[in-house]
Amino acid sequence: MIHAHITAWVLALILFFIALSLHKSGKAKGFKILQMILRVLYLVIIATGVGLLFSVYRIDVWYILKAVVGLWIIGLFEMILGRVANDRRTSVFWIQFIIAWVLVLYLGFAKLPMSFLHP
Ligand code: HEM
Repeated sequence: MIHAHITAWVLALILFFIALSLHKSGKAKGFKILQMILRVLYLVIIATGVGLLFSVYRIDVWYILKAVVGLWIIGLFEMILGRVANDRRTSVFWIQFIIAWVLVLYLGFAKLPMSFLHP
């Protein structure tokens, strides 16, 4: 489950940047397709994340925070792509994006115990 979870968000992150570069080079159709694939990946990320939550013996506040920040990142993926598609400003969302990623990587890898970094 943890591997599916990591695979899903790594893939989403890569496709997110590919989508942005497609938009930059004016490939609207490719952008739309990636946006749709990403929406499926969001569901996979959430499903595997919820699956991980169910495998936790006692959920504490850090797990809740981890889940909330994970959902926040997904919201930001969607907001940034949506606004980029309409040529609207995204700077506020990029700042949130960086903060949310620092938080989620800290919580996921350092704070919470299920990590392959501490077996
Ligand atoms: C793009 C969004 C997300 C990212 C980047 C992300 C990232 C991560 C990372 C880095 C880990 C640690 C993996 C490891 O320790 O080997 C993790 C674990 C986990 N994630 Fe996510 N996640 C996201 C979304 C979610 C969502 C939406 C949920 C819940 C609804 C969730 C729930 C969990 C849980 C319960 C764990 C296990 C924590 C542990 O005990 O180590 N994640 N995630």
